[in-house]
Amino acid sequence: MTRTGYRATQFVQALLAQPAAEDARLVADYLPPALRPRFDGMSRAEQSHSLSVLRTLLRQGQTDPDLLAAALLHDVGKTRAPLRLLDRVLVVLAQRVAPGAAQAWSNGAPRGWKRPFVVAARHTEWGAEILEQAGASPRLVGLVRQHHASFPPCGAEVDRMLVALQTADGSH
Ligand SMILES: [Fe+2]
Ligand SMILES: [Fe+2]
Repeated sequence: MTRTGYRATQFVQALLAQPAAEDARLVADYLPPALRPRFDGMSRAEQSHSLSVLRTLLRQGQTDPDLLAAALLHDVGKTRAPLRLLDRVLVVLAQRVAPGAAQAWSNGAPRGWKRPFVVAARHTEWGAEILEQAGASPRLVGLVRQHHASFPPCGAEVDRMLVALQTADGSH
């Protein structure tokens, strides 16, 4: 390879490596070491989604460590039964078109054609269990457990964080 070709290859590699390095820095900055393996175990698509949620919260000026860790780990429960892209699309469509049916299909074991609906309904609880076992703070566990819950806001700090998390999650 010519020297110019070598430089060009290096440049392209540096460009491609930048997002990965930036992502790794965010994970190191906002997750305690004990919880990083839980993030590493998530699919690339879920990691990318979670990093987008984190970036949105950072742009808003959010600084609470539990909220920022929840951005990265709120969907960690999906590692128990990973879904394909098609499954995720199916759930979103069904929840829009036939929310009652989607809710009814979410009971039971995550098997067969109901599996995507069960995962969508139960990944919050599974995530909370995974993080509890990994030693996460009760506040972080609570945010993950409730990240799809609808509730009347009462103005408490934890509610404000939950609203911020749900809004950022819904925008990605
Ligand atoms: Fe979720
Ligand atoms: Fe999410």
